[in-house]
Amino acid sequence: MNRYILKNVVGLLLLFVAFTACKNKKTEASAMNSSPVDSMVLRDVHTLSNAAYIEMRHLDLDIAVDMAKKQIAGTALWQINNKTKAGELVLDTYDLSIDTVTVDGKAVVFRLDPRIQFLGSALHIPIQPASRLVKVTYKTGTEARALQWLSPDQTHDKAQPFLYTQSESIYARSWIPCADGPGIRFTYNARVTVPTGLMALMSAENHSEKNDSGIYHFRMNTPIPAYLMALAVGDVTFKSIDERTGVYAEPGMIERARWEFENVGKMVNNAEQLYGAYRWGRYDVIVLPAGFPIGGMENPRLTFCTPTIIAGDRSLVSLIAHELAHSWSGNLVTNATWDDFWLNEGFTDYFERRIMEQMMGSSYSDMLWELGYQDLVENVKSLGEKSKDTWLKLDLKGRDPDDGLTDIPYEKGSHFLKLIEVQAGRDRFDKFLKRYFFDHAFKTITTEAFLTYLDTGLIKDDTTLRRKLNINEWVYGPGIPSNCPRAGQERFAKVDNARDLFLNDVPPAQLVTTEWTTHEWLHFLRKMPPALSPNQMKTLDMAYKFTKSGNSEIADLWFIMAVRANYTFAYPEMEPFLASIGRRKFLEPLYGEMMKTPKGAEMARMLYERYRKNYHPLAQESLDKLIYAKQ
Ligand code: BES
Ligand code: ZN
Repeated sequence: MNRYILKNVVGLLLLFVAFTACKNKKTEASAMNSSPVDSMVLRDVHTLSNAAYIEMRHLDLDIAVDMAKKQIAGTALWQINNKTKAGELVLDTYDLSIDTVTVDGKAVVFRLDPRIQFLGSALHIPIQPASRLVKVTYKTGTEARALQWLSPDQTHDKAQPFLYTQSESIYARSWIPCADGPGIRFTYNARVTVPTGLMALMSAENHSEKNDSGIYHFRMNTPIPAYLMALAVGDVTFKSIDERTGVYAEPGMIERARWEFENVGKMVNNAEQLYGAYRWGRYDVIVLPAGFPIGGMENPRLTFCTPTIIAGDRSLVSLIAHELAHSWSGNLVTNATWDDFWLNEGFTDYFERRIMEQMMGSSYSDMLWELGYQDLVENVKSLGEKSKDTWLKLDLKGRDPDDGLTDIPYEKGSHFLKLIEVQAGRDRFDKFLKRYFFDHAFKTITTEAFLTYLDTGLIKDDTTLRRKLNINEWVYGPGIPSNCPRAGQERFAKVDNARDLFLNDVPPAQLVTTEWTTHEWLHFLRKMPPALSPNQMKTLDMAYKFTKSGNSEIADLWFIMAVRANYTFAYPEMEPFLASIGRRKFLEPLYGEMMKTPKGAEMARMLYERYRKNYHPLAQESLDKLIYAKQ
């Protein structure tokens, strides 16, 4: 048995023991007293906490961020309501060292279980029926999966260190001892101490200026789940967009960011017109250093985003529309468990495209739909047409929720909603969605509860509609159902035409591309034959300067094509790209393409060894698998 298999077998055994123990705990508590506080939380297999029995009302966080030591240390004070008179509070932790725990001011003897793979270590705290305040004094570890600590040279301005968190899906527990499930909401206040000269920002009420003390206070009065806890610390400054929107970025980036996001205020207005009031007060965006492992994260009141969407032509801002849309789908109405992830992401992709349609017209949003459809087709192909991972309802029991992070919840999810829109009619569907967000505000929802709501709130006795939707095939079936809607091809038809001409040796100078946005270019390149000749690559490059493209989406795709075609001319530019950009969406396909040939694999390993340190712990985890598995 090799090392990996052995590790997994041991891991699975541990998991089994944990799940059983956890289940017993839950049964014990319920036997002790009436019904659990929250039956939905009981279904969540990715929290070790017993928050189904204990209300987690409020968190007071008091932490200091040590940039030199790369450590967060402080206290988490939880206000609880032990409704079921449970004998202990169990919290999620991951690589935290726990110094002391007090309950209502008195020190108690706590127990920290051994770590169970990605779930972490359960922290057991004895409590009484009347217990109110549980205070945990703790420090983060070196393996904190939520934290990325950047040295100054890994930032845009190269002057100060930077820290940001990424808590979704189950990483909050690696920087805060908490009940870490999407169904467990709480309000929070925080006091964060950082080195002077740096600013701290959270998913809460923020300030727009640095202060000399290095102490920042935050308030989040709207209850949120732990995966929306977020912190960024760095040398950032603020620029306002309109009364309720603005942008934070490093000083050397702020002007470009402010220009790119000119229309963010209008986006919020458009979103409100579609599905009702924005419930979070301000909406700001922070542009992080390029190591940020994802495109964007919908942290309430303050979206975190990658600088790779600052393209200089506002062509990639649909990502902001996406994160903004989560203020309804996700942050307001939250997936009950990670198996219901499509309720967060599918709704958000749908909503994102509706916002973009309002702002840019339907020929524009049709391009987003079509690119999404292409991603869906590719993703189903790579997961397998029959794979259960292509169902909308996922089954992540015993697995890292990260495994569910494919295009399926996004694209199959949004196309399912598009189908309902098309079949029911837009007016009817919009009214339904608006009501859905209103009725479920600040609540969680399972796939099953959504389907019931859909049935009673929209389909009712419209049996024709029910038959046309074929809901079961979408939600509990694999692949792409045959009634999957497809967007109009108005603008892409022209691109197809231009590509055909090119492939028939018409010189690029004769192709009409002047009005093209990033989306047209992506479609142009994506549908090229699998490997172009070096000569064709060269002709394209001479005409359109793809190798030097400052547009991350185009550059990434171009580099993949270059590897495939062995177009070595692009390689020198590929290195700085891989050195600075930490976005998994770009890294995985590009490294993946290199790994397909022995020569490419050699290059991948060399580059990866050089730049691994620039990537987020989660990106390192998935890339390690990709790069080292085949050795
Ligand atoms: N909430 C997600 C990011 C996420 C999901 C992080 C699950 C960790 C686990 C965010 O809203 C998102 O979907 N980001 C996308 C951009 C979007 C335009 C598809 C990304 O980062 O690529
Ligand atoms: Zn999203």
